[in-house]
Amino acid sequence: MPSSPAEEAAALDPTAMRAAAREVLEVHWREPGFTCPNGTTYPWLWLWDSCFHSIVWAELGEPERALSELRTALLPASPDGFVPHLRYLDGSDVHQSFWGRPATSSITQPPIYGLTVEELVRRGIEVPGEVVDAAVDGVRFLLERRRRSSGGLVELVHPWESGCDHSPRWDDLMVPVESRPPGAELDPYDEQRWFDRKGELLATLHLSPQGSPLWNDEFPVGSVAFTALVARSARALAAVGGDDSLARHADELGEAVAERWEPGRRTWVDDGPTAQGSGRIRTSEALLGLFVDRRPETVTAVVAELEDLDAFGGPYGPAQVHRAEPTYRRHSYWRGPSWPQLDFLLWLALSEAGAGDAAARLAATTRRGAVASGWAEYWDPDDARPGGAVPQSWTTLAIYIPDGTA
Ligand code: DGY
Repeated sequence: MPSSPAEEAAALDPTAMRAAAREVLEVHWREPGFTCPNGTTYPWLWLWDSCFHSIVWAELGEPERALSELRTALLPASPDGFVPHLRYLDGSDVHQSFWGRPATSSITQPPIYGLTVEELVRRGIEVPGEVVDAAVDGVRFLLERRRRSSGGLVELVHPWESGCDHSPRWDDLMVPVESRPPGAELDPYDEQRWFDRKGELLATLHLSPQGSPLWNDEFPVGSVAFTALVARSARALAAVGGDDSLARHADELGEAVAERWEPGRRTWVDDGPTAQGSGRIRTSEALLGLFVDRRPETVTAVVAELEDLDAFGGPYGPAQVHRAEPTYRRHSYWRGPSWPQLDFLLWLALSEAGAGDAAARLAATTRRGAVASGWAEYWDPDDARPGGAVPQSWTTLAIYIPDGTA
């Protein structure tokens, strides 16, 4: 971690950053061929993490590792396409009773694998057919088997599926308003309560005959962020395989997300039971709606929100929660820090929406945060104080996003 502005400037040198990123990934490489997020905190394979790692391995000129990472995350495939968010690849059975199954979890995570396949193909890396098929089947499971909200959004079955595990967007269903103690309305985050509730929510999953999660009446959130990522991945895989039905699904989801735009709050609002409550809290992940809703009005609003220092803007990357939200806590897990994987996705969404200058500015602050925090899992958007695991493998995404000055 740099201890002076001069050290920070040296660490931001693109060559130095690539070398540091390579070291982080090398140290976390595991058999049978994947990168764990962190050796102590996260010693197994997490789905969206591995999809991000694969993109960075490709950027580092390591196609074999990029392919191995993606393959290990996706295979073996479930008969109906469902991809678990966690694979225990070392024979560990520590959480078997928690998930109710051996070797993997019983929920998924955002299907970044569509983007990863697209990126590897763009680089001329030959992705084996069985890996592409597993990615397509994974997205199809979410498009065709997973329940939709009444407004047509893809439902989550559990907060962890969002990847944004403790986002205030889930507050209403984690700590119901009526059960909050007086005075706790503004910050209903209670670590033990959330953990217990997450366990409870696994018991109410509705599973397919193959054991894959189809819906959860206790957590039927039509998430704009998750839906936008499903649509973006479907579009990526449609382009790779020429599958028009995936493209049609992506268009339909895009229209459903666009319906959720609320100009007064400058965010997309989730559908379902949180729509009038915590599903309206302004979070950076909700701004990923930009992937599928690129009206001039939404692009302008998202850029303004991400750059305004009283909204999400920060010198070390955007905050994850809008600073004016009562739930905003700049140091607390999923309550305000900057998260590099979200920053990478926002950079991509901005770039694709034609807001290249804003994307470059976001990249510059994120790169700074990654380096100044010591490649932490997340960090304070104002001073880069590290949070969570340090280092964390997904933070190496910072080398992928150009800031326009390199
Ligand atoms: C998580 O905690 O869910 C992450 O994906 C691991 O980095």
